[in-house]
Amino acid sequence: MSEQEIVEVSEAQIAVHWQEEEKFYPPARFIAQANMTDPAIYERFSLENFPECFKEYADLLTWYQYWHTTLDTSDAPCWKWFVGGKINACYNCVDRHLAKYKNKAAIIYVPEPEEEPHVALTYQELYVRVNELAALLRDFAGLKAGDRVTLHMPMVPELPITMLACARLGVIHSEVYGGFSGRACGERIADSGSRVLITIDGYNRSGKLLDHKEKADIALKAAKKEGQVVDKVLVWRRYPGKYVSGRPMVHGRDYFVDEVLMDYVGKRVDPVPMPAEDPLFIMYTSGTTGRPKGCQHSTGGYLAYVTGTSKYVQDIHPEDVYWCMADIGWITGHSYIVYGPLALAATSVMYEGVPTYPDAGRPWRIAERLDVNIFHTAPTTIRMLRKAGPDEPEKYNYHFKHMTTVGEPIEPQVWKWYYQVVGKGEAVIVDTWWQTENGGFLCSTMPAIHPMKPGSAGPNVPGIHPVIYDEQGNEVEAGSNKAGNICIRNPWPGAFQTIWGDRERYVAQYYEKYCTNKNSKDWRDWPYLTGDAAMQAQDGYFRILGRVDDVINVAGHRLGTKELESACLAVPGIAEASVVPLADELKGRVPDIYVSLKPGCKPSKEIKDAVTRSIETRIGKIARPRHVYVVPDMPKTRSGKIMRRVLADISNGRDIGDVTTLANPEIVEEILRMVQE
Ligand code: WTA
Repeated sequence: MSEQEIVEVSEAQIAVHWQEEEKFYPPARFIAQANMTDPAIYERFSLENFPECFKEYADLLTWYQYWHTTLDTSDAPCWKWFVGGKINACYNCVDRHLAKYKNKAAIIYVPEPEEEPHVALTYQELYVRVNELAALLRDFAGLKAGDRVTLHMPMVPELPITMLACARLGVIHSEVYGGFSGRACGERIADSGSRVLITIDGYNRSGKLLDHKEKADIALKAAKKEGQVVDKVLVWRRYPGKYVSGRPMVHGRDYFVDEVLMDYVGKRVDPVPMPAEDPLFIMYTSGTTGRPKGCQHSTGGYLAYVTGTSKYVQDIHPEDVYWCMADIGWITGHSYIVYGPLALAATSVMYEGVPTYPDAGRPWRIAERLDVNIFHTAPTTIRMLRKAGPDEPEKYNYHFKHMTTVGEPIEPQVWKWYYQVVGKGEAVIVDTWWQTENGGFLCSTMPAIHPMKPGSAGPNVPGIHPVIYDEQGNEVEAGSNKAGNICIRNPWPGAFQTIWGDRERYVAQYYEKYCTNKNSKDWRDWPYLTGDAAMQAQDGYFRILGRVDDVINVAGHRLGTKELESACLAVPGIAEASVVPLADELKGRVPDIYVSLKPGCKPSKEIKDAVTRSIETRIGKIARPRHVYVVPDMPKTRSGKIMRRVLADISNGRDIGDVTTLANPEIVEEILRMVQE
């Protein structure tokens, strides 16, 4: 990417960022009870004390055996943490809490239909259900440590139960977001080499009971096409004993989990002590090339990092009722609904449906009833709730001490509504910046230590050392408010270990750009490239400006433009496709699509609909484009490169700037006219 492009991205994004500098201070009541109030934590986690400082997080866990090497860099940049250590993630999230908390709710599940009562699973009940399922996975499905299993499940308590049962055995889970299509799931089955798929018959969303099993049949076909055969499909039932899908069960392949579980009632399975650096799970995310990549997360390092950050940034105490409204199908749900909170013996609330169902008061009714005191969601949801029911929160008697925002930059006026109306001026807010690859937070204020600044993620969290580089690899002066590529100087335990099965891509995408010596075994030579542009203000706070690569953040969901474009190109008659982000009031960004046709094909509504359908079936409805424009040609450079930037400017009604150096400047006028119509 040229320097010019970076500067352009930044200027456009900075424009919506209103240079907010006002600060808000954490209430004394919050500070008085907070887990971390001592600024000296930053000294303890300074680079001088790196990497040993992370023992403080690892010590929040129970180990079978301590590690001999805190950070092994011999296979740089594939970092290994706590080498020699043995640990089990399920044991840490379940078993070890039984002595003190067996009758405390681990998970409170709120179904979408309001007439269905919520379900509270105590730690004891969670223990029983995880054990029975682990026995089934081991003895019926034949799974053992190191095997991969794909989960394609929505927000039901059986999802964390399944994840924990896998973790108990050392089986690597790969959960695919329930809203993704069967095709997308199939690709991930194939890439991870799973021979077991765990899914569900249906679930509630926006007042409808959706058929989910139908996606499993499509997924298996897609996986087989790529050479991966699935021999068992384990189907949970949303309402045990009652099958809600229209799809037949395939004899000898598909099994109802509730039925098979009858044979495992009362079974107990010892947790398998796993080497700390063995993978706990894979989480697929979008990148700059077509195929999604499987971020491989470790057991010991990951769990230590999410537990430490849950304790100090989320300020979770065992007696808190913590509600993160993300979906467990994304990294936020893995780290901050399941592993982090449960490792701390918290009560973690799970909600099945959409926040505005049946009306915009729903989240606040849930909060009031369950007495939620920590609330965690994304700007896109906050915008939606603010639009649909700006005065709803004050009608309900709940009190948050702490709120989180994650996933995209938050506009200061949206932040202020969150603070004043949702938080009633009583709660601290942390704006947490991080990525699927990172396992846990990179930048955020420490809630009892720093003031909040709307629209800024805040400084680094302890032990993370960011640096902003320009295109040439020079450090942008700290605190200079100049935009550049934000990188992290040092490894940390939560970071992914590699891209599943593709080390080369891992190195190329995240490290190549600023690595000064490819043979070095010293972590100092391998800054981690986040792919985000950011600027740092004088007070040390980072303002994240967004992606500089070909990734679009739609309602907090990461989509790769190349993935979207290849879905367009799969439609017969499409010659070229270009996808650009269109600014959207609620979702942040939505995809806008430009296609050109092969000779002999004529523009039609059918072909536009076919493009949208192809995206829905290959990726999922979340990726649906706002517009599909059929253009006579794409704006191109003289070397034939499509100028996406020009199309993005057209879509967003921005000044297009000088296009006279293009190979076909006249096309820009034509497209502009078409879009303005
Ligand atoms: C963006 C989600 C601004 C960023 C945890 C990042 C944010 C991408 C923030 C990762 C934030 C995430 N402020 N931007 N607080 N948090 N982002 O992998 O562009 O789904 O690179 O992880 O979301 O998205 P992912």
